[in-house]
Amino acid sequence: MLIDGHGRTVNYLRVSVTERCNFRCQYCMPEKPFSWVPRENLLSFEELFVFMKVAIDEGVTKIRITGGEPLLREGLDKFIKMIHDYKPDIDLALTTNAYLLPQTAQALKDAGLKRLNISLDSLKPEIAHKIAQKDVLAQVLKGIDKALEVGLGVKINMVPLKGINDDEILDIINYCRDRKIKVRFIEYMENAHASKAIEGMHGREILEKVKEGHTIRALGREGASPSFNYLLDEEYEFGLIDPHKHDFCENCNRIRLTAEGNLIPCLYFDEAMSIAKAVKEGDIEAASEVLATVLRDKPKENRWSEENPTEEKEVSTRAFYETGG
Ligand code: GTP
Ligand code: 5AD
Ligand code: SF4
Repeated sequence: MLIDGHGRTVNYLRVSVTERCNFRCQYCMPEKPFSWVPRENLLSFEELFVFMKVAIDEGVTKIRITGGEPLLREGLDKFIKMIHDYKPDIDLALTTNAYLLPQTAQALKDAGLKRLNISLDSLKPEIAHKIAQKDVLAQVLKGIDKALEVGLGVKINMVPLKGINDDEILDIINYCRDRKIKVRFIEYMENAHASKAIEGMHGREILEKVKEGHTIRALGREGASPSFNYLLDEEYEFGLIDPHKHDFCENCNRIRLTAEGNLIPCLYFDEAMSIAKAVKEGDIEAASEVLATVLRDKPKENRWSEENPTEEKEVSTRAFYETGG
């Protein structure tokens, strides 16, 4: 079992396989970064897997592949199969923008992937275009249909932004309810890489929009999930991810690994330790030591503040496209 310095059990590893992305979402990567991580600095799937086996052997039971956009990395289905074959009962999931799903969903399912979390911020082509800075909606909807058709579990993530897609919260609920899939609304997390022109919505404001014409009942947080769940009209369950509230961090069960091999204890902070040397040398003990150190020093909570989320010092400088959210 993996326990961090604050007594929390860590059983969830998020692995980013690339920081590159085919979208330019305003809240994440509005412009192409000045430079990408050079390809030679990326760990191979085999190298990433050396660390993942250590983590699984020591207590990780849930793995999520993230990016950037993970489906841009060639051979991803083979990587998924490696993980699945090592431990078939692992909760193996992927977070994606869905653009490449029409042509990849079947191979992902065949490789052993169980679930997908998909970003869907608008059902209006021009608004989806404005947020992702690319005409993406038709292809994204096709990707969602394909994922459902091949039998993958699907959840939708929406980041409501004031004056952009805040009038579509109920439309997205209806879209998901019709397909019997869960939506989670995510408070925009201020970060130095995002567009300065956007403003997120507080969880409270999101719920006010949902309440227009509907009843909602709080169900609570589900285990260590960042999502607080609600029941709409006593029949449809949706979630709210509200990192500006700190009870969110109390049960944090996750660590993140980047494509270059940096092990990150918290999404908010820049601190990380590299496992690259250890895995390149196949040094399991050294990899395990880095893991133990990162867990020991894992911060208690993030620093997004409820009172003043945009204040300079309260803005995370870590790129979401590097850690995969
Ligand atoms: P499930 O396994 O389906 O519960 O997935 P998940 O919610 O862990 O994964 P997903 O990639 O869909 O993340 C949803 C949102 O929650 C993203 O915006 C993440 O950035 C955010 N999130 C996930 N973990 C953390 C965390 O530790 N801290 C913060 N602040 N946000 C997080
Ligand atoms: N704030 C909130 N959510 C974000 N995501 C990416 N950047 C941000 C941000 N700044 C979300 C994406 C994706 C998930 C992994 O993270 O919408 O669904
Ligand atoms: Fe790409 Fe996802 Fe970031 Fe959008 S939020 S730019 S889809 S990594």
